[in-house]
Amino acid sequence: MPSNYDNSAGFYDRLSRLFFGRALINSQVYLLNYIPEGANILIVGGGTGWILEKITKLHPSGLSITYVEISAKMTALARRRNYGANAVVFINKPIEEVEDMTLYDVIITPFLFDNFTEATIENVFVHMHRSLRPEGLWLCTDFQLTGKLWQRVLLKSMYYFFRVLCRIDTTSMPDIESRFVKYGYKKTADKAFFGEFIMSTVYRLI
Ligand SMILES: C[S@@+](CC[C@H](N)C(=O)[O-])C[C@H]1O[C@@H](n2cnc3c(N)ncnc32)[C@H](O)[C@@H]1O
Repeated sequence: MPSNYDNSAGFYDRLSRLFFGRALINSQVYLLNYIPEGANILIVGGGTGWILEKITKLHPSGLSITYVEISAKMTALARRRNYGANAVVFINKPIEEVEDMTLYDVIITPFLFDNFTEATIENVFVHMHRSLRPEGLWLCTDFQLTGKLWQRVLLKSMYYFFRVLCRIDTTSMPDIESRFVKYGYKKTADKAFFGEFIMSTVYRLI
């Protein structure tokens, strides 16, 4: 059962800012510098869509963006964003159900994989992997546990909060890195944020 953030759409950005300051934003903005001119981009789980405005600051035009979001309310907020003269197609569906023959230059998954479990991540990963062209870039930001107790406590609290509010049934982080290794990606850049609790990585499909 895919998660649904509808119940939190109205205050999600304010809430995440309260917990993490600008770390959630900075960790994603760091990756946007790797987007080439004129790229064809798939964004999955972009939430309220502020990322579109950050992308537009760097690329006011020339991009083709497909924005896939499972939450109808998040998608509605994203549609209202300023994305300049870039072409954006919004798809309000779980990515697993999007049958799209496009081969993208760039895939962006900002805090998407923390919604999946070891049992469900493989299917969604492979689905997106098939949409990336050879030499394409996958810009991935997500939480990670580096052995610190406060990280485990914070992650558990977040899962509990979203389980109550949004009926999200995930309770632990899946292993994201091993999927990129398994499907032939090379890590070309990375940066940690918020006491290493957040990792932003640029992967290239080789
Ligand atoms: C943790 S939120 C992150 C939102 C945004 N990236 C941010 O950083 O503010 C995860 C987002 O992924 C979306 N999502 C979860 N599962 C999805 C799926 N299977 N397909 C598409 N979107 C999904 C949720 O609706 C939610 O907006």
